[in-house]
Amino acid sequence: MLKTKVGVKTKNNYKKGVNNMLWKDKYELGVPLIDTQHKELFRRVESFMQVLRAEDNWDEKIPQLNETLEFMKRYVVEHFRAEEEYQQSINYPGYEAHKEVHNGMVDYVKEVSKQYENSNYDEQLMQQFGGRLLAWLINHVAAEDQRIADYALKKGVNGND
Ligand SMILES: [Fe+2]
Repeated sequence: MLKTKVGVKTKNNYKKGVNNMLWKDKYELGVPLIDTQHKELFRRVESFMQVLRAEDNWDEKIPQLNETLEFMKRYVVEHFRAEEEYQQSINYPGYEAHKEVHNGMVDYVKEVSKQYENSNYDEQLMQQFGGRLLAWLINHVAAEDQRIADYALKKGVNGND
């Protein structure tokens, strides 16, 4: 098992993009649409990080980073909306607070991409953003989103709709 893991981490594979290495099945909420979107977010953020960490010149990375950034801006909003609709559908009590966390993230992504454009694609800014985005995604999906699943499960078990 260890051998396989070491084998996967060659530079070549890294460049080709071995995705979903950070995704864990325990992150699943048991809601197919949300789980699919979460996996896609992990996949995109990981490939974003792979581009950021690659040894190519910064100028060469800009088009790919910009494309992912544009995708993220649209997809994050779409995903948050779907997740919020799901929360409402099960009368999740943490809905308002959760929506605020989502809105805060959307504002942050918009603000950074505005700064990034204004700075003429500053590397430092994107490196910092990539790290924060990844940390946020893992923490959010592993903790805050899990509470939605916990509630749904409890509600299903208790049957008090
Ligand atoms: Fe969420």
